[in-house]
Amino acid sequence: MIARETREAPTVPVWDLFVRLFHWTLVGLVTGALVTGFLLPATWIDIHVLLGLTMAALVIGRIIWGVFGPRHARFRDFIRPPGEVLAHLRELLRGTAPAHYGHNPLGGMMILALILALLALAVTGLVTWGGEFKTGPLAILSYATGVASRNLHRLIAWALLGLVALHVLGVVLESLRTRENLARAMVTGVKRHRADLPPPPPEAVRATPRNRIMAGATAAIVFGALAGWALVSLTKPIPGAPVAAAAFPDDYATECGDCHKAYNPTILPAASWQQLMASLDNHFGEDATLDEETTRSITDWLTAHAAESADTKPAHLFRKVDPRNPIAASATPAWKEIHKRVASEIFERAPIYTRSNCFACHQDAADGWYYPGRIEIPDAPPKTPQPTGGNG
Ligand code: HEC
Ligand code: HEC
Repeated sequence: MIARETREAPTVPVWDLFVRLFHWTLVGLVTGALVTGFLLPATWIDIHVLLGLTMAALVIGRIIWGVFGPRHARFRDFIRPPGEVLAHLRELLRGTAPAHYGHNPLGGMMILALILALLALAVTGLVTWGGEFKTGPLAILSYATGVASRNLHRLIAWALLGLVALHVLGVVLESLRTRENLARAMVTGVKRHRADLPPPPPEAVRATPRNRIMAGATAAIVFGALAGWALVSLTKPIPGAPVAAAAFPDDYATECGDCHKAYNPTILPAASWQQLMASLDNHFGEDATLDEETTRSITDWLTAHAAESADTKPAHLFRKVDPRNPIAASATPAWKEIHKRVASEIFERAPIYTRSNCFACHQDAADGWYYPGRIEIPDAPPKTPQPTGGNG
């Protein structure tokens, strides 16, 4: 009966559960990473890194599944030699290309490109996190390496956006051409049975028990090795770290931590500290004069621990000062550029009061890190309730 047949057209299982879960989880993770990376402020960095690391773990899992998984999950099934890809392209243009239950050779190239782009994003992301932000297992890398890597990371992210657009276009065109909703097939795992194709054997979507064990064992070794490497790396000292607030000498901590908290000396270059220390009688309109002996010892210490001694982001950014006000990090061109998203009104309100009060928003300011994941802009204090009258 024709009516019955169209309602319950025979189907063929194509995508196993792992491939489907991988695909849709990846869609969510990549969307989140693109939004947190391109659109949201730097304060989202920890979420961004978490999404990226989860993505990387999934991609590594997919690569292992591409070796040990069932037929249509395997790279061998869809990463075809260039000659075959070109032949498929020619047949497509002539309108004679056959349908495929798994990925067609062109789709296979796209999967390969996407996986390579995602791996490259994971690597450049970790290098940026380490070099630029001195965080994670690659915190030993230099700031310069981190910045170079960030540029590459951004470039690959744009390339990924392009690939995703092409991938969606390819899915739409192929769905129209083969009259098979490919996006739905990636949800249900089944495609309609095609008279023009031999049905795949059951092992096409079920890995053999032996292969499952192989995949699990490989995953355990790879993830175990990565976790071990990360744990060992995290214990390594960070070269170019700023001097910790706990190690500030007493005279600096008390004399320069009186009106405001004591700044980490890595936020200004040595020349700026020397100018600042030579003009304490008029320190931003205040008299902060100290005796000669204390002035000398603080000047020497600041000079030795100035921006030139550290490899952190602020130490590099604020080395270039504004000649009209060379003794304030908040007057440097880089500082102004970074904070232009923060409204002036926010700096002026309680409990912040001034741009110079880095400590109000940057939880790690005293230690000189200024990691964007440690920024918390304090809420404005509630307005004191007005007496409502009637009591007196
Ligand atoms: C008498 C109070 C007082 C003392 C003591 C004092 N400061 Fe200041 N300091 C200020 C004021 C006020 C400002 C300006 C804050 C503003 O612009 O809102 C300032 C600003 C600064 C800034 C600029 C921060 C920025 O980037 O905007 C630095 C750096 C600084 N002080 C270092 C020092 C050092 C080093 C010492 C110790 C030698 C010191 N201060 C002692 C009152 C003081
Ligand atoms: C009102 C809160 C506030 C104050 C005060 C403030 N900052 Fe920031 N700062 C921010 C915010 C928010 C960002 C993130 C901006 C963005 O990327 O959108 C930021 C970013 C930064 C960054 C870059 C972090 C990164 O790696 O992306 C540095 C460095 C920095 N601030 C240094 C300072 C210094 C030094 C001071 C004091 C002179 C200061 N900030 C005062 C809110 C503040």
